[in-house]
Amino acid sequence: MSINPAPASAPLRIGLIGFGCVGQGLYDILQQQPEAGFEIARIAVKNPTKARTLPLNRFDFRADDLLQDASLDVLVEVIDDADEAFRLVREALCQGRRVVTANKAMLARHLPELVQLQQQTGGTLLYEAAVCGSIPVIRTLDAYFGAEPLRSVTGILNGSSNYVLTRMGEAGADYAPALAEAQQKGFAETDPTLDMGAFDPRSKAVLLAAHAYGAFLNPDEVLNLGIEGISAVDIAFAASQGQKIKVIAGLQRLPDGRVTVLVTPQLVGPESPLYSVDDEFNGVVIEADFAGEQFLRGRGAGGHPTGSAVLADLAALRQGFAYQYPKAAEAPEYASDLEVEIYLRTDEDRIIDLLDFSEISEEADEDEYVVGYVALAHLIRHRDTLRKYGAFIVRTGRLRPVSTNELVAEVSA
Ligand SMILES: NC(=O)c1ccc[n+]([C@@H]2O[C@H](COP(=O)([O-])OP(=O)(O)OC[C@H]3O[C@@H](n4cnc5c(N)ncnc54)[C@H](OP(=O)(O)O)[C@@H]3O)[C@@H](O)[C@H]2O)c1
Repeated sequence: MSINPAPASAPLRIGLIGFGCVGQGLYDILQQQPEAGFEIARIAVKNPTKARTLPLNRFDFRADDLLQDASLDVLVEVIDDADEAFRLVREALCQGRRVVTANKAMLARHLPELVQLQQQTGGTLLYEAAVCGSIPVIRTLDAYFGAEPLRSVTGILNGSSNYVLTRMGEAGADYAPALAEAQQKGFAETDPTLDMGAFDPRSKAVLLAAHAYGAFLNPDEVLNLGIEGISAVDIAFAASQGQKIKVIAGLQRLPDGRVTVLVTPQLVGPESPLYSVDDEFNGVVIEADFAGEQFLRGRGAGGHPTGSAVLADLAALRQGFAYQYPKAAEAPEYASDLEVEIYLRTDEDRIIDLLDFSEISEEADEDEYVVGYVALAHLIRHRDTLRKYGAFIVRTGRLRPVSTNELVAEVSA
């Protein structure tokens, strides 16, 4: 028996909006893969005087001109301006178009509206590149695990902070030189706030929650604590227990069926696959009720890895694929009435008072740290103050309902 290849059809005409790291990465991949069947027909950028790697006549300087071009089959939005990205993607979906985006901050803020628009207009929006770059996690959750309940989804979703933590762990370096090295090697932005403050992985966790649990969350209600206050003392504390500190996005189903999402530094032991996800790499562990544990690891950023995820979305669009958000019809309640066990290091007594620990199990005056349970609501309410005073917090992984001593979950990351 011979299997005939699919009949050749005209290449899909792509309107590419943005020609930076991701846009150029996609362009380069498609140049190397002419047989993939995608043609970058038009490219829109912003700055008419910037030096380009392609002849100037390849570029448009008004993205709206691409929106008005009915000959384009798909729009790929990869610009660095979240508000403008929302305007463009929204307009394209209003026209019933097929769109691919990589903009996690924009998506996390506007996902419910964008999903509703697709239902109204018949447009389709895919965004695999927005979470963990090259790792195919969104489609895995949406399509493959669409029918299976998930216990947890736990991940290292930000390569920049992971690189800094890895350098600190290996070299005993302090935060500032490790960050400077990450910036110099292109693994961290000049303004590191979004990555080091865990805002970027929080946006990604919000997107994962929509596909893993059908929970559409406001990013502000999800706790994010970063690593700006970390020092070599904290790395040594973790190492003394045979553990590493990683910024972990933890999405978890509780015994009562509700879900919680926390994005904070966490102690990770060698039993976890995430323990050896180092440098700029990302990793995700999916705990499914019947499949058990699955582990995905790969590059979370960069032109080619992210362009690869955009390419996968383009191929999926050609096959008529659209996200189903299969668990949205029975979305679980979001739980924030929990107590979280943390390690806190601060030289400000008022921070300890502010957090109002319900139980303290360990206190070391010399190293200025405390281990104990704190209400999640207090951490959310005071996160800006914690950041302002340079307090550093790591979760141990233990959670319990407010005001009881009954453990509801012990999550090894
Ligand atoms: N870089 C990564 O590894 C990565 C990974 C995952 C997701 N993402 C996401 O992908 C998106 C793009 O990131 P990037 O790193 O490729 O950004 P970038 O390198 O800064 O490039 C941004 C591009 O967008 C263009 N642009 C900005 N505003 C525009 C407008 N109003 N109209 C048309 N073009 C406009 C810029 O034009 P000019 O060339 O004229 O300045 C530039 O070409 C962001 O949402 C980012 O969060 C990036």
